[in-house]
Amino acid sequence: MGEPTIEDYLRENRTFPPPPEFVARAVVADDSIYAEAEADFEAFWARRARETLTWYDDFHTVLEWDLPFAKWFVGGTLNVSYNCLDRHVEAGRGGKVAYYWEGEPGDTRTITYAELLEEVCRFANVLKSLGVQQGDRVAIYMPMIPELPVAMLACTRIGAAHSVIFGGFSPDSIIDRVNDAEAKLIVTADGGFRRGTVSALKPNVDAAIASTPSVEHVVVVRRTENDVSMVEGRDHWYHDLMAEASADCPPVKMDSEALLYLLYTSGTTAKPKGIMHTTGGYLAQVAYTHKVVFDLHPDDDVYWCAADIGWVTGHSYIVYGPLTNGATSVIYEGTPDTPGRDRLWAIVEKYGVTQLYTAPTAIRMFMKWGHEEPEKHDLSSLRLLGTVGEPINPEAWMWYYRYIGGERCPIVDTWWQTETGAHMITPLPGVTTLKPGSATFAFPGIGVEVVDDHGRPVERGGGYLTLTRPWPAMLRGIWGDPDRYRETYWSRFPGRYFAGDGCKIDDDGYLWLLGRVDDVMNVSGHRVSTTEVESALVDHEAVAEAAVVGASDPTTGQAIIGYVILKQRFEPTPELVEEIRQHVAVKIGPTARPRTVVVVPDLPKTRSGKIMRRLLRDVAEGRQLGDTTTLADASVVEEIRQRALEAPQED
Ligand code: WTA
Repeated sequence: MGEPTIEDYLRENRTFPPPPEFVARAVVADDSIYAEAEADFEAFWARRARETLTWYDDFHTVLEWDLPFAKWFVGGTLNVSYNCLDRHVEAGRGGKVAYYWEGEPGDTRTITYAELLEEVCRFANVLKSLGVQQGDRVAIYMPMIPELPVAMLACTRIGAAHSVIFGGFSPDSIIDRVNDAEAKLIVTADGGFRRGTVSALKPNVDAAIASTPSVEHVVVVRRTENDVSMVEGRDHWYHDLMAEASADCPPVKMDSEALLYLLYTSGTTAKPKGIMHTTGGYLAQVAYTHKVVFDLHPDDDVYWCAADIGWVTGHSYIVYGPLTNGATSVIYEGTPDTPGRDRLWAIVEKYGVTQLYTAPTAIRMFMKWGHEEPEKHDLSSLRLLGTVGEPINPEAWMWYYRYIGGERCPIVDTWWQTETGAHMITPLPGVTTLKPGSATFAFPGIGVEVVDDHGRPVERGGGYLTLTRPWPAMLRGIWGDPDRYRETYWSRFPGRYFAGDGCKIDDDGYLWLLGRVDDVMNVSGHRVSTTEVESALVDHEAVAEAAVVGASDPTTGQAIIGYVILKQRFEPTPELVEEIRQHVAVKIGPTARPRTVVVVPDLPKTRSGKIMRRLLRDVAEGRQLGDTTTLADASVVEEIRQRALEAPQED
């Protein structure tokens, strides 16, 4: 038996069973699917793949597993855009709304399944007319406008793979990604609206394109009407091409294992990894998890995932899951504070949103802004909430539960990764008794084990999160680099997928994610997770958000430095700062008490909202900053450096 390798300090005893009125209507209302999946996980997934998707040819083999290379639903053929669009229209649901789109300035579009199908067919023909063929890669660099899912779906219709590049990335990031994928064509827009101003996109493509020899054409959607330069023969306006294109474009039969898309994630080295997702397995797991984890009732619900489509969350749970299930979704273009800090809540009220899925980093920002903002709106349409992207601190969970969910909505805290493609650890809202801050249990059919340094399973306490068997939506590799795939995910613990996250198991078998293991601190020989200390800091009533790192310390090896953002109504007096520091000792124990607590106005985050603790370590140790290219706002770090110099040093 394995030994716990990461300390287990935080005790959270509040529990929330599913409300009876929720269970009465729940898509999954009892736990029998866990037993079904455990008895035979391949048969479990095969049944879901057949029930959830429409196949042209049924598969003959559920899984071929040649560790670490998997093939799912072998021999099956299908088309993703057919599953997302045509089959709903053929079933008479063409008039159902696929997307309510809300532009940041307040303009809107309502798009039905029939309209979306027509636009996708036209754009698929546009791609063909520009020479895109089955098997080619298309780069997409766009704001959150309807033409973004249209472009993705058009690729799937003709069997091209897309590579969506988040609209906040720089020309250098475009160059790396386009060249790695050897994309033939880029779909972009003149710009998008963010925080009331135009954020230009086409100029970034122009800056990149001299260095991307594979690109033959650029298609530009007009959104913001900023001036853009168009190169004759290479650059084309979307609306010009669409006006000429036929709306007749039969979907191509694709192999279950055909490449669906690449999505780049940055690793520890500078070169981003092109995570490969294929067709049948990905779509089956994404659609099924979307249905049961969000308790989807497609005829009644208005579902909203407030992520960006440029991240995997948007790929799986704005585009592919909801459309496969025939859901009605909201897409919002802009930032949550434009024109006011209640924009999200205004949108929930306006469309009668029933499920809201967002990130802990956003929830902590809403906490900082105060519950007065959501209280300006009627949020009673909501019946389920979700979170993804980081561990959620119990206090942030409670705030979300109380002020957004009105104490009536279950919260699904979903753990997964770009690499996993779909939810892996999550509650089922009609079945699972929730604990604030715990992602609870592995999804049916998913094998999760926490192991120690030697790869031995840990039954209680903290260790490394691993996955013990293949799953349908798993990455199939890293584009062009099978060795790096094996090395990154399958070598640390032989025979297991290593996610890079710490995790602990409590006495009831609940899973608690502890953050990236690279961030784990070593204080006097105790391995302390950043997540637990951060949760103890956020537990103090004055703290809205916290990040902790270990800085070298002559006596303890590492000492904990806490950076905190205060809620708006609190002043950073030395007494308050000391009280916050002591609060950690009271809440989880003196070993975890930070040596220093620094009040900061903001924290360095990636563009998807994850805290970059690596940069905070550089600040804490007075080092030159490492790579800052993925940072959302570089000025934040300078500000923090100043505050850190002024902060009192405690023992
Ligand atoms: C973290 C986002 C705790 C984790 C879908 C993972 C989480 C990384 C959770 C993947 C969660 C995601 N609780 N941590 N519910 N969800 N993470 O690739 O560290 O952007 O490895 O995928 O986010 O981030 P990615």
